[in-house]
Amino acid sequence: MLNIVLFGPPGAGKGTQSDLIIKNYSLVHLSTGDILRSEVKAQTALGMEAKKLMDAGDLVPDAIVIGMISAKLDANKDAKGFIFDGFPRTAAQASALDTLLAEKNTSIAMMLALEVDDDELTKRLLLRGKESGRADDANESIIKNRINEYNNKTAPLKDYYTHQGKFHSIKGVGTIEEIFASLCEKINTYS
Ligand code: AP5
Ligand code: MG
Repeated sequence: MLNIVLFGPPGAGKGTQSDLIIKNYSLVHLSTGDILRSEVKAQTALGMEAKKLMDAGDLVPDAIVIGMISAKLDANKDAKGFIFDGFPRTAAQASALDTLLAEKNTSIAMMLALEVDDDELTKRLLLRGKESGRADDANESIIKNRINEYNNKTAPLKDYYTHQGKFHSIKGVGTIEEIFASLCEKINTYS
């Protein structure tokens, strides 16, 4: 299996690049943000609990997202591999993911981290906010909070994957095609 963590701050291009990668490598895309938004839309109990936190740009509890990922892994038993987008986001999530994959006799191949500066992230998200309807794109202070959550709780995972020899930094500024080419170059080194 080819399991990749596509990492990066809010607006780094994780979703955009995941769409291209899954087509090229026939992988399954698991975005905890997308799954949570569909729960909100369907007004499930889980969605109602998550909505307030998401709208404020805060992380939702680890147990919720770990449970969601576990269910998706079970539901896609024949997958050639997974792109994890927006997961893991905390140390607890990273170690839970390792355990879940080990139970299935597989593991993370690599973490590809899209590097984009804060000004560019803010610009992209405010621009998308004009049309996306996402409450967490709506204003600069919520976007700042998302970036803070990333810096405090998520960015340290770079060390977690560095210790495993799996961390790779990718320039996330440029055209979508240029960034996709850099990602493919890295993925193709894995055999
Ligand atoms: P999530 O949905 O994961 O959002 P995010 O990480 O904040 O980031 P985005 O999805 O907004 O950005 P992206 O990196 O996917 O970039 P995209 O391709 O869209 O999480 C949302 C919330 O859910 C969290 O705040 C939290 O509450 C909760 N949550 C989710 N997962 C969780 C977890 N594991 N634990 C706890 N809570 C969790 O691109 C952004 C924009 O830029 C787009 O408009 C795009 O068109 C544009 N763009 C893309 N590439 C380029 C480029 N090269 N140049 C110019 N523009 C570009
Ligand atoms: Mg996304």
